[in-house]
Parts: sequence; C-alpha cells; structure tokens
Amino acid sequence: MQSRIRFVVSDVARFSPVSNRTLVLCKPDAVERGLVGEIISRFERKGLTLAGVKMLTIDRELARRHYAEHVEKGFYPELEDFITRGPVVALAVQGPDAPAVVRLMMGVTNPAEAAPGTIRGDLGILFTENLVHGSDSPESAARELNLFFPEL
Ligand code: RTP
Ligand code: MG
Repeated sequence: MQSRIRFVVSDVARFSPVSNRTLVLCKPDAVERGLVGEIISRFERKGLTLAGVKMLTIDRELARRHYAEHVEKGFYPELEDFITRGPVVALAVQGPDAPAVVRLMMGVTNPAEAAPGTIRGDLGILFTENLVHGSDSPESAARELNLFFPEL
C-alpha cells in the first residue's frame, strides 16, 4: 500500500514563503546552561518547524552586522561581548507568522519582566542574559536569515 503521508518537513521547508521564516539565536547563556533542547522543543511543540540549525561562534564583525541597529547605542559593547563569548545555536524557524509567533513565545527583552509561559519568563532573570534572539519583523527576518543561512 502506498503511504498517504507524502508531505514531509523538507517539503515544507522548500515551498513555504520566506516571510514565514524567522531567525532564532539560542544565545551563549542558553548553550552554557544546556537549554537549547528545551528552547527548540517549545517551538516544535507549538507547531513550528526547523528549516535549518547550526552551531557557531559569532565573531565581532558578524555581531555588528546582526545588531546593526544597536551598534551606536551605549549598551552595544556589553551586548557584543555577550553575544560573542561562546557558541550560539542558530535556528531558521518556520510556520505561519513565524516572526510574530516566535517573539510572543520569547517574551519581552528583560527576563525579570517577561510573562510566565514565555522562554525568557520561565528560564531567565538577568537582563543581558536573555537566552534567545528572534527577528523583530518579517523584514528583519529576511535580512538576518541571509546572514546566518544564506544557503536557504
Ligand atoms: P534581541 O534582539 O536580542 O532578540 O532582543 P530584543 O529584540 O528583545 O531587544 P533589542 O531592543 O533588540 O535589544 C537587543 C539586546 O540588547 C540588549 N539590550 N540592552 N542596556 C540596555 O538598555 C539594553 N537594551 C537592549 C539586550 O540583551 C537585548 O536582548
Ligand atoms: Mg531585537
């Protein structure tokens, strides 16, 4: 008997529009604390899928390109030191309204103020060590995915 399930994850990855993908970074604190699996699991349980996964250490040049809108701000040196201090796990996350859905699941920037049920609200408490990055719009997602997953 022929399998009736022919629509597999790789097909989803190939045919979904780029605007339904977003970049997530599991930041160095998430890797150090062994929370990458927990974070990925939350997205998967929600019904989002992974179009790409890679572990890398962000160098200072990539940090400046990724956080271009923050480079001139006073907190940028601390942010750059943090994001470059160890490996991150970059995810291309895919699904309906992925940029907005991921941001909702992350919670607000400061983990101390993030709602319970969100990644930052459940797993973090320090301001800088906020575990995850998620693109803040479909336009940011396209730009940032191109930095981390140019092959997709
Ligand atoms: P992210 O880009 O990392 O996903 O975080 P976000 O959108 O929630 O926050 P954003 O405003 O883009 O800030 C980027 C990161 O910079 C640090 N930050 N520090 N000291 C400060 O006032 C300040 N503001 C932002 C945070 O670590 C934030 O994640
Ligand atoms: Mg941001």
